[in-house]
Amino acid sequence: MIQLSKGADRIYGEAAFEVLAKAQELERKGKSILHFEIGEPDMETPDNIAKAGIKAIQDKKTHYVPSIGLLELRKSVQDEIEKTRGYRPDLEQVVITPGLKPGIFFSMLAIINQGDEVIYQDPGYPTYGSVTSFIGGKSIPIPLLEENEFRMNPDDIKDKITGKTKLIIINSPQNPTGSVMTKSELEDIAMLAEEHDIYIVSDEIYSKMTYDTNHYTPTSRDEAKKRSVLLDGFSKYYAMTGWRLGYMIAPKKMAERLQDFLVSAVSCTAAFTQWAGVEALTGNQSFISEMMTRFKEKRDTIVKGLNTIPGFKCLFPKGAFYAFPNIKETGMNSQECADHLLYKAGVAALPGTAFGPYGEGYLRFSYATTLENIDIAINKIKESF
Ligand SMILES: Cc1ncc(COP(=O)(O)O)c(C=O)c1O
Repeated sequence: MIQLSKGADRIYGEAAFEVLAKAQELERKGKSILHFEIGEPDMETPDNIAKAGIKAIQDKKTHYVPSIGLLELRKSVQDEIEKTRGYRPDLEQVVITPGLKPGIFFSMLAIINQGDEVIYQDPGYPTYGSVTSFIGGKSIPIPLLEENEFRMNPDDIKDKITGKTKLIIINSPQNPTGSVMTKSELEDIAMLAEEHDIYIVSDEIYSKMTYDTNHYTPTSRDEAKKRSVLLDGFSKYYAMTGWRLGYMIAPKKMAERLQDFLVSAVSCTAAFTQWAGVEALTGNQSFISEMMTRFKEKRDTIVKGLNTIPGFKCLFPKGAFYAFPNIKETGMNSQECADHLLYKAGVAALPGTAFGPYGEGYLRFSYATTLENIDIAINKIKESF
């Protein structure tokens, strides 16, 4: 029988979409479900940004544009990186992508060969493992421990580096734990990468989503000129998940290759989306602080609520919009507990194991929902036990 490629057998999807499908199936049968499985803000794209996108369509910005991205947006990204990360990348380092995710895929394709070892956080965003497996690389997970507030310990990375280590992927603020790495931890990792000649890909999609703490980038050590790649985008803190817009700051030589990946895969990112992105970066920023004030209230409500459920124990995450409670004392494993919540309480959350084996014993709740839904969900979970 004719076969698909080996890579097609090795790539894998995301549990969030599977749980959503199960929840929707229950809803079709008339059951009401409270959704905590989806990783997107519950706000709409700010009006000024939406209008800039609409105006761009009306102004006929609906044609192909350069694969690397619109000059206007790339310059705005240059200013943005200087303002938020403290260094100004050269224009040739700035590459626009349709969402952050293609940035993960293309940078990994540009860096990893079959057999190369890739270090990343576990539990962590599933795309890193999926793409590593697709390329035929070897996954080297670093456990994120609750005792260390789910931050990656640079000493653990040091222990795992071999002659085959090619890439370290860092995600801070982190999905699914909400942990935020400290400046000194990130500097230590950047130094390790330099010492052992390893690339760093830094997924900073939640960069503006921290509570009472600052976000740092490991890319400032080499200003993304030699071995590090910074990925960020508009999906989360501008509530633009469906627009598909992100960017990469990469060493020049890699950026040239990335441009060719884009030519071959997508030609370019939609022009009108990019014009909306220019408005997002240069327009009024108050949306973000307002959103984060609301998220903080939701975080406090859900964490306090989860800590009142027998068998649940939850830390206060310092970033993103996910709570990651320890559910070990319920006597159930992650999958059993997630199923129990869905079928007995009508609450959709993700098992920690959807993010890797070290997620066992935990659940992920995305608290991008109303305070009222959070209160109802906590009560329903309590009643279900
Ligand atoms: C860590 C992380 N990286 C990347 C993405 C995807 O970003 P985008 O929608 O811009 O492709 C997500 C979305 O959930 C994420 O959590």
